[in-house]
Amino acid sequence: MSAPLPPVLVVDDEKNMRRSLQLMLGDEGYAVRAVESAEEALGLLAQEAFFMVITDARLGGMSGYDFLAKVKSHWPDLPSLMITAYATPKLAVEAIKAGAMDYLAKPFAPEELFLAVARCAERHRLLRENAALRSRSGEVYGLEQIVGESTKMRELRQFIRTVAATDARVLVLGESGTGKELVAGALHSLSARRNEHYVRINCAAIPETLLESELFGHEKGAFTGAIKQKLGRVEEADGGTIFLDEIADMGKPLQAKLLRFLEDGSFTRVGGTEELRVDVRLVAATNRDIIKAIETDEFREDLFHRLNVVQFNLPPLRERGEDVVLLADHFLKIFRAKMGKSTKGISSAAQQKLLVQPWPGNVRELRNAIERALILETNSEIQPASLPSFSLESRIQKLANNAPLPGESLEAALERVEREIIQSALEQSNFSLTRAAEQLKLTRHSLRYRMQRLNMKVVGADVGELPPASSV
Ligand SMILES: Nc1ncnc2c1ncn2[C@@H]1O[C@H](COP(=O)(O)OP(=O)(O)OP(=O)(O)O)[C@@H](O)[C@H]1O
Ligand SMILES: [Mg+2]
Repeated sequence: MSAPLPPVLVVDDEKNMRRSLQLMLGDEGYAVRAVESAEEALGLLAQEAFFMVITDARLGGMSGYDFLAKVKSHWPDLPSLMITAYATPKLAVEAIKAGAMDYLAKPFAPEELFLAVARCAERHRLLRENAALRSRSGEVYGLEQIVGESTKMRELRQFIRTVAATDARVLVLGESGTGKELVAGALHSLSARRNEHYVRINCAAIPETLLESELFGHEKGAFTGAIKQKLGRVEEADGGTIFLDEIADMGKPLQAKLLRFLEDGSFTRVGGTEELRVDVRLVAATNRDIIKAIETDEFREDLFHRLNVVQFNLPPLRERGEDVVLLADHFLKIFRAKMGKSTKGISSAAQQKLLVQPWPGNVRELRNAIERALILETNSEIQPASLPSFSLESRIQKLANNAPLPGESLEAALERVEREIIQSALEQSNFSLTRAAEQLKLTRHSLRYRMQRLNMKVVGADVGELPPASSV
């Protein structure tokens, strides 16, 4: 749904080089404009949008270095890549000084080119997203982005405000999709470090062997493929915040290195000997049971204690009372604007359906459900039929087996069966309380009463919210 990427601007006075760049990048799905001089390129840049510039160092007329210096001063956010005839540290320094984000020495492998271009594309996408978010809310990750009026969410926002002001390390725990990333971002945006970098690393997405060099950088020649020195993301985050997402997926050798880093902010790049030091605030998150990971010896207990100075425990969506309706409304507005649909709202029956679902994928699952419903819906309000049906089959199976579960009291077994019967009646009556009550030969009022007693959420009643937990 994101807007298409504008083209790459290629500047090279050699026709063959222009053509081969055009072919290679075109095959990768990038749109390309190629020109032969810096002068021509500057003219185009003034008229059209590009997501990056690739320039040869040596051009007829204005040189690649002077060209980049001009680009940098006019379009400071436009990433650029310089291609030099041969790799010497001096040329690399010149290229970077002139404002190139990266450089490639001829001859280069297509993969090297694609990697550099993909990085620029990602940067472009992030800048655009940030700009869009900022213009919408005034902040990148403000508290107002965290929707919810349940006691737990109000307490959470207050707690974020308090903790953000400190430099304390924070460990954010919670099931998948509960908003851990949102909280980490808010902690940075509300801190005194907000104008410095916020660097997020997903420890599960980067292969273990690369994660160390990503975090702490490497020296040239540290391993095959380390063709030049690379700064660590911790250096990028100096003065700011680093967010280590999915921390429980980090391997044990790196955990040891991280532990040392947390002791005094010092580290060495991979393959290096110099001890470096930075000042970063660390926020970490995981959706895994970290205590269990300690018990099974996958996670170092001493590292856990270092990270766990302040702990945020995000409640699953099913424990947030009527927030599910508020969130559904929030996502409806976002997607409605994006899709240009005129769907007015969510019908009361559909709200009832949202309220009684278990939401194992939490807010992310709800967001996806609303997006899909909006695509499908042809009425002016979202109807239950446009929302996904959850685990109906597994409930019917459970209904068939209504003997008490091992260790379950008669009372609890009866409640469980009663809850399941009501749930099925709601489903069969398309989440109309009136019709479900008729089917069960109850008045609407006594159905509501029973549901509330069973801790089932009912549209328009503020029940189903558990008492506030002692830890947020
Ligand atoms: N309280 C909230 N208000 C508004 N949007 C929310 C809220 N909580 C989560 N979201 C949205 O739900 C989606 C999932 O949230 P997020 O990525 O922060 O989850 P997570 O806890 O990091 O999950 P995972 O463990 O799977 O990485 C995001 O699109 C996020 O913006
Ligand atoms: Mg996450």
